[in-house]
Amino acid sequence: MYLPGLGRGLKSLALALLISNPAGAIDLTITDEQSIKDAASTTTYAMMTYYKGNETGHIPGAFASKWWEGSALFLALLQYWYFTGDTTYNEELSVGLQWQSGDDGDYMPSNYSSYLGNDDQMFWGLAAMTAAELQFADVTDGFSWLSLAQGVYNTQINRWDTTACDGGMRWQIWPYESGYTMKNAISNGGLFQLAARLARYTNDASYATWAKKIWNWSLSSPLLSNSTWNVADSTNMDDDCSTQGDTQWSYNYGTYMMGAAYMYNYTNGSSEWLSAVNGLMNKTFDHFFPTSNGGIFEEVVCEPSESCNDNEILFKGLVSSWLSFTALLVPSTYSTILPYLQTSAKAAALSCTGHNNNTCGVRWYKSEYDGWIGMEEQISATNIFVANMIQFNTSGPVTATTGGNSTSNPTQGENDTSSSTTQQSKITTGDRAGAGILTVVFVVGWVGLMGFTVFGG
Ligand SMILES: *[C@@H]1O[C@H](CO)[C@@H](O)[C@H](O)[C@H]1NC(C)=O
Ligand SMILES: *[C@@H]1O[C@H](CO)[C@@H](O)[C@H](O)[C@H]1NC(C)=O
Ligand SMILES: *[C@@H]1O[C@H](CO)[C@@H](O)[C@H](O)[C@H]1NC(C)=O
Ligand SMILES: *[C@@H]1O[C@H](CO)[C@@H](O)[C@H](O)[C@H]1NC(C)=O
Ligand SMILES: *[C@@H]1O[C@H](CO)[C@@H](O)[C@H](O)[C@H]1NC(C)=O
Ligand SMILES: *[C@@H]1O[C@H](CO)[C@@H](O)[C@H](O)[C@H]1NC(C)=O
Ligand SMILES: *[C@@H]1O[C@H](CO)[C@@H](O)[C@H](O)[C@H]1NC(C)=O
Ligand SMILES: *[C@@H]1O[C@H](CO)[C@@H](O)[C@H](O)[C@H]1NC(C)=O
Ligand SMILES: *[C@@H]1O[C@H](CO)[C@@H](O)[C@H](O)[C@H]1NC(C)=O
Ligand SMILES: *[C@@H]1O[C@H](CO)[C@@H](O)[C@H](O)[C@H]1NC(C)=O
Ligand SMILES: *[C@@H]1O[C@H](CO)[C@@H](O)[C@H](O)[C@H]1NC(C)=O
Repeated sequence: MYLPGLGRGLKSLALALLISNPAGAIDLTITDEQSIKDAASTTTYAMMTYYKGNETGHIPGAFASKWWEGSALFLALLQYWYFTGDTTYNEELSVGLQWQSGDDGDYMPSNYSSYLGNDDQMFWGLAAMTAAELQFADVTDGFSWLSLAQGVYNTQINRWDTTACDGGMRWQIWPYESGYTMKNAISNGGLFQLAARLARYTNDASYATWAKKIWNWSLSSPLLSNSTWNVADSTNMDDDCSTQGDTQWSYNYGTYMMGAAYMYNYTNGSSEWLSAVNGLMNKTFDHFFPTSNGGIFEEVVCEPSESCNDNEILFKGLVSSWLSFTALLVPSTYSTILPYLQTSAKAAALSCTGHNNNTCGVRWYKSEYDGWIGMEEQISATNIFVANMIQFNTSGPVTATTGGNSTSNPTQGENDTSSSTTQQSKITTGDRAGAGILTVVFVVGWVGLMGFTVFGG
């Protein structure tokens, strides 16, 4: 069981004494292809030392107390493989992505389905979508990557909630979960992104209609503004979404920006989506790449106070990837985005000098190792290095008509009613009591991890 902050704080203290020798530095030349590949190889190796899913007695793709992080790991691995050509981890990647997909192929695996949130499931859907778009080969016995993304999409649009706020995705799926009565940016912006990507890959307009619907709803709520381009973290159903929890997290901006980039590309260059991309991108750079810290990517809410939890350490990595995809999908943004990715990657490399073995820290803007250590730090460093590979490969994500051959199943997940709104009203008292016990366990181990929205908002 993980106690956010405490474990890291103690380790950080204990290890602070060991960090002064920078002998294990990653020597990164940001304009050199091989140099970037080498840096990514180093951080990916360290990242995979935390992954036990292919060892006897362990479950592929499973991280017991932080299930969604498996998707963040596999997202990083997919891009690592695609941009470097290194296939070392592909088997584990394929097996893990498949193993956690659940009986219905929608990332509601029974071991986790009773306490995961819409955002957790959505991130696995994005990983499957990325696999399809980067032409990671489908498995011969199992679900295709595209159908897994469709499975997540189908189960989630069935949960679209009109009981308050005239629409929107709840944060959580189950009434007993803390956050069930909230609607938040990452769940809505995440599904918006997934819908936009499905629209572009399949050229099926029904996905685009949903993307637009989620976008419209987000604008009508306090979560997203198309005048200031502020993205708030959450809003509460108890007051019909009239107030906002305005904590500023980079991934909330990033996911709406990424979705808008796909819509821009899908629409063959609509000016409406272009201004959305530019607005969100500008705000992201202004806010999370502060010039006062050298224009280096910084999760500003938690880094200066060293209070980032595992989730929050991953946000920069996710957004680095999304910026690199945006640069390819919206070519006019490329020359703006690339210098930011370069500056941050150089700083990240300087942070990867811990323990004489290239351990990466959290605060890239320190340009030195800061004493933190963990899988999340390694994932984010991998992502910022790999994001810089767009200098050498501008092919971008494919579609079904430009080389993507992942098999489509537009109805996947539709039979999984285990968590649709209709089913929820049928939960019996007995079920709830049992579930409540699980929740007590969940509260101890998970709310601290996943509660960043609640506590942040
Ligand atoms: C680097 O050293 C630290 C401290 O000994 C250790 O915890 C970590 O696993 C090492 N990383 C690698 C990739 O060997
Ligand atoms: C798990 O995969 C790693 C490569 O990432 C490999 O070094 C290791 O031997 C594998 N373990 C087993 C038990 O297959
Ligand atoms: C980009 O990378 C992909 C995957 O490795 C490869 O198929 C493609 O040929 C590359 N494109 C260029 C222009 O190098
Ligand atoms: C679910 O958990 C059980 C018990 O730990 C394990 O044996 C099984 O492989 C898990 N199933 C999946 C799909 O992860
Ligand atoms: C689909 O494309 C991938 C990548 O190009 C290739 O490895 C795979 O064999 C193809 N699958 C089929 C069924 O054609
Ligand atoms: C989104 O809102 C615009 C007006 O701002 C409207 O024209 C459009 O039909 C709406 N689309 C959907 C799918 O709700
Ligand atoms: C901003 O959103 C509102 C509400 O959806 C819409 O009516 C308006 O046209 C949008 N403005 C721009 C500049 O897109
Ligand atoms: C974009 O252009 C392509 C090629 O002309 C066309 O097939 C597609 O339908 C267009 N997409 C939209 C949303 O108009
Ligand atoms: C984004 O910033 C650029 C450069 O500062 C500016 O030219 C552009 O108008 C801005 N776009 C939006 C939508 O705010
Ligand atoms: C869409 O993205 C591709 C890269 O995948 C790019 O080549 C193309 O120019 C983009 N389309 C538009 C309209 O910008
Ligand atoms: C859903 O259930 C129906 C009826 O049992 C079946 O015909 C259909 O193939 C199922 N769809 C999926 C995607 O499993």
